[in-house]
Amino acid sequence: MSKLTQLPAWHALWDHFNDAKNLHMRELFDSDPARAERYSLEVGGLFLDYSKNRITDASLQGLMQLAREAGLPARIKAMFKGEKINSTEHRAALHVALRNRTNSPILVDGEDVMPKVNSVLSRMGKFAHAVRSGEWLGYTHQPITDIVNIGIGGSDLGSLMVCSALKPFGHPRMNMYFVSNVDGAQLKETLKKVHPETTLFVVESKTFTTQETLTNALTARDWFVARARDEKAVAKHFVAVSTNKKAVADFGIDPANMFEFWDWVGGRYSLWSAIGLPIMLYLGEENFTELLNGAHIMDQHFANAPFEQNMPVLLAMIGIWYINYYGGGSHVIAPYDQYLHRLPAFIQQLDMESNGKQTMLDGAPVDFETAPIIWGETGINGQHAFFQLLHQGTHISPIDLICSLQNSSSLPGHHEILLANVFAQAEAFMRGKTADEARSELEAQGLTGEALEALVPHKVFAGNRPTNTLLMDRLDPRNLGSLIAAYEHKIFVQGVIWHINSFDQWGVELGKQLAKTIHAELAGKLKSAPHDSSTKALIERYRRANAQ
Ligand code: F6P
Repeated sequence: MSKLTQLPAWHALWDHFNDAKNLHMRELFDSDPARAERYSLEVGGLFLDYSKNRITDASLQGLMQLAREAGLPARIKAMFKGEKINSTEHRAALHVALRNRTNSPILVDGEDVMPKVNSVLSRMGKFAHAVRSGEWLGYTHQPITDIVNIGIGGSDLGSLMVCSALKPFGHPRMNMYFVSNVDGAQLKETLKKVHPETTLFVVESKTFTTQETLTNALTARDWFVARARDEKAVAKHFVAVSTNKKAVADFGIDPANMFEFWDWVGGRYSLWSAIGLPIMLYLGEENFTELLNGAHIMDQHFANAPFEQNMPVLLAMIGIWYINYYGGGSHVIAPYDQYLHRLPAFIQQLDMESNGKQTMLDGAPVDFETAPIIWGETGINGQHAFFQLLHQGTHISPIDLICSLQNSSSLPGHHEILLANVFAQAEAFMRGKTADEARSELEAQGLTGEALEALVPHKVFAGNRPTNTLLMDRLDPRNLGSLIAAYEHKIFVQGVIWHINSFDQWGVELGKQLAKTIHAELAGKLKSAPHDSSTKALIERYRRANAQ
């Protein structure tokens, strides 16, 4: 038996679940007029309404008891203190140090990391200022107008998501491009849009060994040198962000043009570090600092608020309720804002790469579900695509509806429509529509008899489908920082409950290893390697199609 399933609270919650599983949220709302007020909270500029969940006071008490029995208080302290909670890689997980605005010392191996954090932030600030002000000039003495970030996964998604989300705060002269795919198409199409004289390439890779990134960076460098006809010009147009100085130098980028971060920053938690350089270049130092401030507000709240009033803990434990008790293994991220269109992809990596695990800290296999499948799309588009399944399909998939109260677009008339849809969806998912309600509606439309009765079952919505509504006062750097940090900590809490390491990602390695051999075969450097018949046939087919 695993630790989690041995805990008294785990069993007590099963007893409670058996009593409570069929409760309908309609009844819960009817019987408690203060439910919305009691089941909501505000942290900085972020408001969470979690009242439309299949929970009662007893469910919450049981879930918080489970969090305590699973050792959450000590694990939170361990993370903030810089203990090596990433046990399989013997590293701390200290993204909180990157936005530690109080500057209180945080020790890793006896050394306070804050001076290093502050020094890189200040270098980034100076560089960003030089580029943004037009002081930093390209090889033909022109200011930079285009930034091309080359990176993948955590070295792409965070900056891409934040730069998209905060476009109204972006520098008007600056165009941002993100190249992650090694297919060649993404880089080719990007290079068509930019000019070597005015483009800055930011090559981002924690390890600086990632094949996709190095291949794209090399091609971009060749493209640049072929046009600039001067190797020396590279220094004005290529900078690197990495933990690996040697690999950066070997690649041909001057370490003076490198911005450093450290092995205690996980890739998917790194947008607060030098990996956020594209964010700072686009939004400026002040706005980047605001992003850090917003995350810090959430960090302080997470570290200090009692679990019952703790936003990340509530989000996590309500998630546990569905994943482990109801057996709902999927979770939808539905931002109602085009600026947030990359948020689902960002949270997908954050959650699934962190908690998509089946081995506990002690090496034993889990005997319960772990990370849900995270998916999503902007909510309004989702409504006209996959929400049908969420309303009437057979899966129960909790949904996070995310939006801002103030209009991001400043176009009149749009925001009311958008928010009306957010609130209506949350209500519809909760209430559903009974057969009687469907019948009355059809009668009002003039239907009668058999025709009416034939339609009724199709018009019924069971409801009782859970949503969290997350409202930002407005979509700005501070509130976005708080939102991202809330998800980071939610994911951490769930990892603690499951006794897994949320900070490694060994699961991505096998494919990488095998691809190396197959690449050698496809490139004609290796005649053949042992493979199953399917893989062999696929390789052969590729070779035939590409034979000269
Ligand atoms: O392969 C997965 C992964 O290691 C992610 O965890 C990481 O964010 C991404 O690749 C990129 O890695 P790097 O920053 O080292 O290039």
